[in-house]
This record gives sequence, C-alpha cells and structure tokens, in this order.
Amino acid sequence: MAFTFFFRDLPVLEYAVEETIKLAMGRMRIKVWDAGSALGQEPYTLTILFAERLGATFNNLYLDATDYDSENNFGDIVKLATYKYEELQRIPVDIFDKYFVSQGNDLYQVCDKVRSRVFFQYHDLLSLKPIGSDYALVVCKNVLLHFQYSERIEVIKMYHKALSPGGYLALENTQKMPTEISHLFEQVVPDAQLYRKI
Ligand SMILES: C[S@@+](CC[C@H](N)C(=O)[O-])C[C@H]1O[C@@H](n2cnc3c(N)ncnc32)[C@H](O)[C@@H]1O
Repeated sequence: MAFTFFFRDLPVLEYAVEETIKLAMGRMRIKVWDAGSALGQEPYTLTILFAERLGATFNNLYLDATDYDSENNFGDIVKLATYKYEELQRIPVDIFDKYFVSQGNDLYQVCDKVRSRVFFQYHDLLSLKPIGSDYALVVCKNVLLHFQYSERIEVIKMYHKALSPGGYLALENTQKMPTEISHLFEQVVPDAQLYRKI
C-alpha cells in the first residue's frame, strides 16, 4: 500500500511547485501539505524541488507530511529520512550529490537543510479534519484510489477548505475531479490532475 519512489510523476510535481511559488511569492510562509506521504519519498522530492527554486526564501517553506500508518512507524522513518542507495537511483546525479549524505553501508540521509522543512504527523484522511489552513499546495497522489467514491468527494472538500484562495491541488493521474464538486476547482492543464481552488 505504501509503494512509492523518489521523483515519481516529476513533470506534474515540478509544474505544481512552479505555480505554487508564483502564488505564494511575498508570503512569510509557503505552506504545503503532502497527504499520504508514505515513507517520505514524495515530500522530500517536493522539498528538493522547492529548494532548487526558492534560494534565500527556502526557509519560508513549511511542508506538512501526513500518513495514517503508525503501525509501521512511518513517522520515525520519515523523520530519519535515510534510504538505501538502490531506492535513490532515479534521482538525477547532480541533485543526489547535492541533497543526500552518505551514512555508510549503502545508506544515504536527506541533508539537514531539506529535512528541516518537513514536518510529519500522523493523520487519517477519513477523519475529514484538515490539519491546518492556508495551504498554497496540497499533494495527494495514489491515495484516493483506496477510498469509496463518496469518501473521495468528502476528502477533496476537506482539501478545498485547507487551501488558501487560488491554492493548488495535485491528485493522482487516474483520479478525475468528481462532477459533484467540480465547481470548487478549475483544472490548470488538460493533461494533468492539477487543480486551482476557485
Ligand atoms: C501508494 S502510497 C502513495 C505515496 C505517495 N503519495 C505517492 O504517490 O507516491 C499510499 C499512502 O496512502 C496512505 N493512506 C491510505 N489511506 C490513508 C488514510 N485514510 N489516511 C492517511 N493516509 C492513508 C498509505 O498509508 C500509504 O502510505
């Protein structure tokens, strides 16, 4: 259920990050929520993409990563941010060299600068309680497919509530916006499930 990998679905994430930076430019805080973060691969990918683009304002980024899997200690694993080399081979070499630190034994840790901007908490999306508000971007990929259609609608409504005006929502490519709530968002590009809050 937690299948994932670094730099998955990169074109959509890059586009989402660029649009989010334009939206949040000048804000004291750029708030991002990665919902269903699994073991950290997606939130750290996003944070690296922000680090590449934000320069001196990188510390304005607050990326909340959430998952409900406490049985498998996802929280400890995300916070440690240490991965086997074989899991990191999709990462472009220059990015890998810049953001990963060898721990020996074929293990690499995400550098402190990136780890310091990611805040993990356990959260069950089906509680339908947003973890906060004023998010410029919510990323929820490869999670909604596990839910019933009616649950998907309620979870997306929760994201709508959590987003700031004009904020972005990135969903997995297989999830279209349910027609019942399509008035809440506009699709940003026709070939990606990236939406802007209306
Ligand atoms: C396939 S992984 C997706 C990881 C990443 N978002 C990606 O696209 O690569 C799905 C994640 O959703 C989490 N998940 C499933 N149901 C959830 C729920 N009700 N609340 C929070 N997380 C949930 C699982 O624990 C798992 O880590």
